[in-house]
Amino acid sequence: MKNIPFNKNSILLAPMAGITDSGFRRICKEHGADCTYSEMISSKGLFYNDEKTRQLMSYSTHEEPIILQIFGSDKECIKYAVNYINRNFTPAAIDINMGCPAPKIFNNGDGCALMGTPEKAYDIIKAAKEVSDFPVSVKFRSGISSRTINAVEFAKICESAGADFITVHGRTRDQFYSGNSDMDIIKRVVENVSIPVIANGDISDYASAHKALMHTNAYAVMVGRAALGNPAVFEQIKSGCCDADSTQTNHYIFEIADRHLQYVIEDKGEFQAVKEFRKHLLYYLKGIKNASVLKQMSCKAISYNDCMKIFDIASKNI
Ligand SMILES: Cc1cc2nc3c(=O)[nH]c(=O)nc-3n(C[C@H](O)[C@H](O)[C@H](O)COP(=O)(O)O)c2cc1C
Repeated sequence: MKNIPFNKNSILLAPMAGITDSGFRRICKEHGADCTYSEMISSKGLFYNDEKTRQLMSYSTHEEPIILQIFGSDKECIKYAVNYINRNFTPAAIDINMGCPAPKIFNNGDGCALMGTPEKAYDIIKAAKEVSDFPVSVKFRSGISSRTINAVEFAKICESAGADFITVHGRTRDQFYSGNSDMDIIKRVVENVSIPVIANGDISDYASAHKALMHTNAYAVMVGRAALGNPAVFEQIKSGCCDADSTQTNHYIFEIADRHLQYVIEDKGEFQAVKEFRKHLLYYLKGIKNASVLKQMSCKAISYNDCMKIFDIASKNI
């Protein structure tokens, strides 16, 4: 299909702020993610030349195809961000975040707040589309609250503004991550637009991915939290694997974690990498017996060797 940087039934790595940096994208790509996303990038931060914001955009060929996700509600800042991407990068697409529920984003009129100001959302998407050298997509939720579910109408607005594809997370802003992702609303979105729809929310294994694709008839699916501590989730879904030997799986996951850390070190240097990797250590230790001491060690890890020691002890505790 024209302008779509992945195939039907693909499995995409979700954008996750603080998680989907270069190292994490690379390890997920190696283990079956068909397309990766950056963390969300502030269009205002780019506009005001913020160095940290710019750094969030860097990526390597190992992570391609990659979609750069921007957020903001100021049309000029969005246009600036798209032009900045045009000049400096060649992503598979530019995604606009209209689903973020976090108060500091939402209360600023950004992220999911744009589902409550659809005319503004339309203008932003249209402006981005007019200047972008790349396909433009939008990621949003089922609505802001259970009383204002408007994903179908909002999807039509995205389509009429020129979005090339959309992603729908079947939860409202008020739900944050509680309850279940509503696959019925995603199905209704698919029925009401002609552009491809990516289904998102609670996809964690072969059964949930298959069910989401069958139920919604979405073009592809997106996996977020299930990749935390398990970047192999993409290949597991693809192989239809459901009950692999857990001991073997744990050893395999620690090997992956080792490589993941090495990629982060390549990118950020050992000190910064290990500091940022501590949260991933906690995810990798999920399900390990007597993990409390290991978790304490994780919070204090300052070197690659500290992390390897933790995996070594954890391997013996499986
Ligand atoms: C830690 C974390 C950070 C997230 N950051 C972003 C983000 O930057 N942009 C975005 O569109 N969604 C973000 N999300 C939402 C995910 O992309 C995804 O929509 C959500 O987690 C539901 O999918 P899942 O059930 O597969 O996790 C984030 C989610 C988590 C857990």
